[in-house]
Amino acid sequence: MLKLFQKKLLKVHVFIACIAISFYFEALVPSNAEQVEKNTPSVTYSNPYFKGTREERDAQVKRISTLFGVECNFCHNEDLTVFSKEGEKSKEMMKASVALGVECDHCHVDRKHYKENEQQAKKMFELCEIMGTECNFCHAGKDKLTAKGEKAKTAFLTRAWAIEGTKQCLECHTEKKQFALNFNGWQVLNAMKGLKGM
Ligand code: HEC
Ligand code: HEC
Ligand code: HEC
Ligand code: HEC
Repeated sequence: MLKLFQKKLLKVHVFIACIAISFYFEALVPSNAEQVEKNTPSVTYSNPYFKGTREERDAQVKRISTLFGVECNFCHNEDLTVFSKEGEKSKEMMKASVALGVECDHCHVDRKHYKENEQQAKKMFELCEIMGTECNFCHAGKDKLTAKGEKAKTAFLTRAWAIEGTKQCLECHTEKKQFALNFNGWQVLNAMKGLKGM
């Protein structure tokens, strides 16, 4: 009798174990599916930084790794599905380069060294961070500024931005709101209009 009971108990245990195992595998399935999704190429030959024929694009790609003196996998795997920290940063850099109408060597000498515009470039990245803009808010290609860029240029000069930095702009503009005016800014604008008799 006791033996029979033990047998039954064993059966129950096996049964529970089976359920547990099947749950375990069921739990694995969706995570596999997620992985499949992650591995599907999401970006190939689509970044506006790359232009022209296949050969021209390949040459552009090679210029990047030559400039930085690194292998391709410094930034991404062969399928362009996995990007390193540097690869992700490079995507941002490509956006900046497109806005400026330049290639990476406009600012980079190699992986560790920059050209003389380094400080200005760093300040520009900082400005974008503070004001919530991208480079193309002001830059419209090589040596070209947007209308807002022209206004910024005046503000840079009158406010000694190169020395005083971007924080002072928050006296009249709202942080992260792409130079939207704050209350003080509106008062200044209205005073300006008053002066012009508008
Ligand atoms: C410094 C980082 C970096 C290095 C080094 C690098 N790449 Fe890339 N590559 C990128 C980034 C960033 C993209 C754009 C990806 C995106 O927009 O999603 C890209 C895009 C590409 C593309 C797509 C081009 C297109 O027309 O859209 C190819 C192909 C490519 N890389 C191949 C290579 C090969 C081959 C090497 C080595 C010779 C290499 N890359 C080295 C960062 C790098
Ligand atoms: C307008 C100037 C400028 C251009 C153009 C530019 N960069 Fe940069 N890049 C910088 C500056 C400045 C830094 C340092 C940023 C910092 O300190 O946060 C930097 C940093 C980087 C880094 C990170 C380096 C590290 O060790 O963390 C990578 C990678 C990079 N750039 C790749 C590129 C690629 C690829 C291109 C061309 C598609 C490019 N950059 C174009 C100015 C530029
Ligand atoms: C709020 C406007 C504004 C934004 C946003 C902006 N810039 Fe600029 N940038 C300017 C102005 C104005 C100049 C000066 C142009 C001149 O003197 O003719 C300039 C000049 C530069 C220069 C020096 C000239 C050159 O071509 O080497 C660099 C480098 C630069 N910007 C990089 C950037 C980068 C990178 C970004 C994005 C991270 C950016 N800028 C975003 C307004 C802006
Ligand atoms: C004392 C107030 C004040 C300060 C400080 C100030 N601005 Fe402005 N800014 C204004 C006013 C008012 C306007 C709107 C009138 C105009 O467009 O000329 C404006 C407009 C702008 C615009 C155009 C925005 C758009 O959407 O058209 C840009 C870009 C700009 N300012 C950049 C800057 C920068 C960069 C700084 C810091 C170096 C700065 N401003 C500091 C008052 C200020």
